[in-house]
Amino acid sequence: MTTKQLKRSDGRKANELRKMTAKVGVVPNADGSAMFSFGDTVAIAAVYGPRQLHPQHLQNPSTGILRCVYDLLSFSVYDRKRPGPSRRSNEISKVTGWALEPAVDLDAFPNTVIDVQIYILQADAGTRTAGINAASMALAHAGIPMRDLVCSVALGKIDKDLIADLTKEEEDFKEGEGATDFAIAKLATCDEFSLLQMDGKIQPEKVKEITKMAEETCKEIYEVQKKALKDVVESDMEEKK
Ligand code: CDP
Repeated sequence: MTTKQLKRSDGRKANELRKMTAKVGVVPNADGSAMFSFGDTVAIAAVYGPRQLHPQHLQNPSTGILRCVYDLLSFSVYDRKRPGPSRRSNEISKVTGWALEPAVDLDAFPNTVIDVQIYILQADAGTRTAGINAASMALAHAGIPMRDLVCSVALGKIDKDLIADLTKEEEDFKEGEGATDFAIAKLATCDEFSLLQMDGKIQPEKVKEITKMAEETCKEIYEVQKKALKDVVESDMEEKK
């Protein structure tokens, strides 16, 4: 990868996302569920609730609570991941909740909890963003009232070049200025970002370009999410005929 002519090892253009796949209704026992993938990164999300929160002293009479859990499955990464929570998974669970909350009408469900469980089946960078996309669809599938869908993507920089949807190989790029990774989440139809996380360094003037790339790529993600939700509604209607 040189600065003169950006060549990504998978042949993508700088602003090109990996192939996206989305499917809604993948966990029959859940109230809502979805799968979302960016290339080899595959996330699955299941939503349960709203249901009464226990223990009762944690209940909030003016709003419901969104409880997100994110984790990598042991076989999702090359070096087997030890099962159970870690500092990394606790952080990602927390920021996933922050990314989704602005889209969900939690005030409609006082004293309750909505559980969102996200598991990564296969990881090749961008797992938190794939997880947020899956969770957003799973919440809609569960019939939770939402202001919007949430679209999420990792953008960044390898040396001086801005790129979308980094692979693990790109995240590990060490030459020149190295790699910078920006995880963003955006409400699909309004100008509101619900997550901005950066790992690395970036020149302030490049942030504007990153924001533009975020808007464009989120539009593509939104189309994929909408199609998956429409497909499940249509297949449910077919079954009822
Ligand atoms: O996955 P995401 O980019 O949201 O988060 P990260 O913490 O920057 O992790 C980047 C990548 O490192 C993951 O997607 C995995 O491919 C890899 N990873 C790993 O191989 N083993 C771990 N225990 C954690 C991450």
